[in-house]
Amino acid sequence: MKAIIVTDQTAGVAGMKLVERPEPEAAINDVVVQVHASSITGDEITWPSTWTDRSGRDRNPSIPGHEVAGVVTALGYGTTGLFVGQRVFGLTDWYRDGTLAEYVAVEARNLSPLPADVDFSVGAALVMPGLTAWQGLFDHGRLQAGQTVLVHGAAGIVGSMASQLARAAGAYVIGTGRAGGRQTALDFGAHEYIDLENEKLQDIGKVDLVFDIFGGDIAMQSASVIRSGGRLVTIAGPTEAQPVNGSAIDFVVEANPGQLTEIVQRVREGLLRASIGNIASLNDAVATYNSSNRPNGKTIIRVRP
Ligand SMILES: NC(=O)c1ccc[n+]([C@@H]2O[C@H](COP(=O)([O-])OP(=O)(O)OC[C@H]3O[C@@H](n4cnc5c(N)ncnc54)[C@H](OP(=O)(O)O)[C@@H]3O)[C@@H](O)[C@H]2O)c1
Repeated sequence: MKAIIVTDQTAGVAGMKLVERPEPEAAINDVVVQVHASSITGDEITWPSTWTDRSGRDRNPSIPGHEVAGVVTALGYGTTGLFVGQRVFGLTDWYRDGTLAEYVAVEARNLSPLPADVDFSVGAALVMPGLTAWQGLFDHGRLQAGQTVLVHGAAGIVGSMASQLARAAGAYVIGTGRAGGRQTALDFGAHEYIDLENEKLQDIGKVDLVFDIFGGDIAMQSASVIRSGGRLVTIAGPTEAQPVNGSAIDFVVEANPGQLTEIVQRVREGLLRASIGNIASLNDAVATYNSSNRPNGKTIIRVRP
């Protein structure tokens, strides 16, 4: 099969190569998925999980990409719950070969059925941003209707999803980002917007939850706008930011088919949309990821046209 591999942890997307690799086989409780649409997230090529298995053994060269939408072509020994020919989407294991390939082996428990009226590209684009936003807001942030949430990077891929989900849940959403992101963030559901380049976070008053994607100084400043009992949830890694009488949580997104089913249903009802910047073929993927003028939004690799 055709697949993209990486061989150099320091090279980022510049180290990607399109090669031929053997097709994967389905282990116990796995399925093989014929990949229709795929994507990678931010910095995953630098993460240790791209370079070792869970025992720390070297797995270079590895196939990156852990977001997938496709069709089941084989079931592993003992696998139940899915069938050959089924449309599915989901998040694959960080420590195994990924989805920038024609086929990927995935634990069946990580996949959700993809409804027939949802395009594979949309399915792939929902996986990481949808699960990250959902888990950050509701599992870790415990957001409730009537609360106020500050969503950092609200014009971006994850932030735009978080704003939509938070607003639909009855929260008041204050988005942040650069000056140029204002209209995009408002279009994706933020009630108001703070331009971090020219405005002060402290001017917004108190919020119940901060959904942070930046870490560093912005997370530190954000801790001071959280009211007593509130939370700072970050996807930017461990943070020293600590709200007074509140809690700070950093997390890495996990597979959750039940949450994906809820998320895709909202898309079908027209209540939620993924931020897709561009769609490229597997042949063009390396050049696309290395292009200096990629549009905002998720880059989707359409492995089968
Ligand atoms: N822990 C996890 O589970 C997890 C899951 C998913 C993603 N992530 C991480 O989350 C981060 C965000 O991902 P994403 O896909 O949403 O990225 P993205 O689409 O690039 O969104 C980031 C947004 O923040 C803006 N921004 C960047 N730096 C800024 C600054 N200094 N001040 C103000 N605005 C700024 C960007 O504006 P410009 O485009 O104009 O720069 C963009 O609108 C990435 O680092 C990713 O690796 C973590």
